[in-house]
Amino acid sequence: MKNYPKVEKLRDGTAVLLRPMAGGDQARVKAFYKGLPEQDRLFLRDDVSRDEVVDRWFAELNYARVLPILALTDDESEVMACATLHRFPQGWQRHVGEIRIVVAHDFQRRGLGSLMARVVVSEALEAGLDKLVAAMMTDQMRARRAFSQLGFIPEATLKDHVMDLRGRTHDLLIMTRNVKALWEEMQQADIAQTRPMEH
Ligand SMILES: CC(C)(COP(=O)(O)OP(=O)(O)OC[C@H]1O[C@@H](n2cnc3c(N)ncnc32)[C@H](O)[C@@H]1OP(=O)(O)O)[C@@H](O)C(=O)NCCC(=O)NCCS
Repeated sequence: MKNYPKVEKLRDGTAVLLRPMAGGDQARVKAFYKGLPEQDRLFLRDDVSRDEVVDRWFAELNYARVLPILALTDDESEVMACATLHRFPQGWQRHVGEIRIVVAHDFQRRGLGSLMARVVVSEALEAGLDKLVAAMMTDQMRARRAFSQLGFIPEATLKDHVMDLRGRTHDLLIMTRNVKALWEEMQQADIAQTRPMEH
């Protein structure tokens, strides 16, 4: 993991330390997930407020299969976001990666979700993946907007495919994007942002 740790800045100048989740992070990761508002936890794949769910992630840490990247405050006391790149290295989906992002409520709408997406896309590119998938309930509007803004296209909807924590079923929306195209677009956007004004 030669690229880490690294420090990036949000639009408002807040420093964010980025690095893969490691053994010593268990307590702060649990605190992060327990601190999510119910409206965010409700729609996640696992009940992340349960210690045993997070304990299992740590017991099974394997970056080749799931690479979790944490965004931490600069003193590393608090997790601001967690993004994961899920891979299926041996099977017929070995060219595909799945991206998942969760941002703490206080840090949402400040560009952190987009920053985490960029980190995951760069990892997907480095891993030689072709296609990225993001899966969400059709009614997760913030996630849909965030991934649409990154050029992800709805590719399939599976009816009543997932159940929220309250036991209600929802349609699952699969959005996808080509990794190289997305990375190139992100690089162009960077250049556009740093280019001095032309007169
Ligand atoms: C989806 C999520 C990761 C976005 O994180 P974020 O840090 O708020 O994202 P950003 O600030 O980078 O915003 C990216 C874009 O998403 C869209 N967006 C995000 N939150 C939004 C909201 N509340 N209302 C409208 N648009 C929203 C906007 O288009 C935004 O771009 P803009 O700020 O330039 O308008 C965050 O809302 C979250 O953690 N939700 C709960 C978990 C989840 O649903 N994860 C996704 C499933 S993988």
